[in-house]
Amino acid sequence: MIKGKKALALMLGATMSLSMLAGCGESGGDSTTAAATEAKTEAATEAATEAATEAATEADTEAATEATTDGAGKKVGIAMPTRSLERWNRDGSYLEEQFKSKGYDVKLTYSDNKIDQQVKDIEGLIADDVDLLVIAAIDGESLTQVLSEAKEENIPVISYDRLILNTDAVSYYVSFDNYTVGKLQGEFVRDQLDLDNAAGPFNIEFTAGDPADNNATFFFNGAYDVLKPYIDEGKLVVKSGQTQFDQVATKQWDTATAMNRFQNILGSNYSDGTQLDVALCSNDSTALGVTQAIETDYAGTNSVIITGQDGDEANLKNLVDGKQTMTVYKAVANLAVATLDLGVAILNGETPDASLIDKSGWSFDCDYDTSSYDNGTGIIPSYLLVPTVVTKDNYQKELVDTGYYTMGDDGYPHPAN
Ligand code: BGC
Repeated sequence: MIKGKKALALMLGATMSLSMLAGCGESGGDSTTAAATEAKTEAATEAATEAATEAATEADTEAATEATTDGAGKKVGIAMPTRSLERWNRDGSYLEEQFKSKGYDVKLTYSDNKIDQQVKDIEGLIADDVDLLVIAAIDGESLTQVLSEAKEENIPVISYDRLILNTDAVSYYVSFDNYTVGKLQGEFVRDQLDLDNAAGPFNIEFTAGDPADNNATFFFNGAYDVLKPYIDEGKLVVKSGQTQFDQVATKQWDTATAMNRFQNILGSNYSDGTQLDVALCSNDSTALGVTQAIETDYAGTNSVIITGQDGDEANLKNLVDGKQTMTVYKAVANLAVATLDLGVAILNGETPDASLIDKSGWSFDCDYDTSSYDNGTGIIPSYLLVPTVVTKDNYQKELVDTGYYTMGDDGYPHPAN
């Protein structure tokens, strides 16, 4: 199978020979007459154009053949949780674009963060005879029944970003290393406060994600494990006393819920002028609410370290404006590429394993993990991509120069897709 990259190389090769040949014509030597130079240039250009056209045609034909053979007549059902949390809009359109580029018919659903709705949407996709299901679950534990129907119909299921629990219908999991996302947030706080050297104590409050989302505990644990030793020694203090996942979780990752909870925390623990140093938030939708609460209800004047995850537009604006300190970026464009290659392999009757990573020639790092994600029926083989810390200092390099975002006239980055 020839990847897009190889086709591009062919085209670039052709363009290069065009300029190299044209270059020969130009520097044809002092003694050459104008006519000879012209004839030579013309011949060179013609030859180069022919070469370019040939290569382009070859690449096009291969790409077209690939598009029609890979996906011909096959349907992919993609179930996303909601449009109300920004990233899933990007996931949905990247996935749709990837599968369509290979000739698959794509059915994409969004379920408004309603569990029953997602079950109905997946039932609809099954009834629609999809050949493959790619699902980001709203509630990891609520799809057992509907996915047993998928299994009966022999429809393979890729658990996308969030692990689907308690069903043996899931063949593979594609995500980012979720524990590392939290770890990066914890390490960022540790380094910003120089916890190994500074005397402290510093005050920190935690905000985590949706208990129905299997990722949420991974994020929280990743961060907490880094910071726990400093909490234990008293260098980091959690004034609210809320250090358990269940106490700091945010249903549906909802911004307003996170804001209300944080207003209460500020009112009860910081209204006497106590300084808050860190608000560790598991993602951007919760960080947005916490930032709002700090703006309206925090008496202090220091700039609070606020973490996040995703690179949502409003949060990147806050990052540029110095209101949020970092976000962990997960290149969902790459996750869509990995999902496509995995999906194609499954639909071709293969049993993908670690070798898929080399075979696919991805330009991004990915680990094949067969130990971390047990969904209650056994370990689900996982392809885990690598997240990146983004701050005010590196967002241009990490987000804009990479093409994931473009700089707007307003001075803020906006998603390119
Ligand atoms: C995703 C995060 C996202 C959160 C809320 C999680 O499952 O991994 O990237 O911030 O859901 O949408």
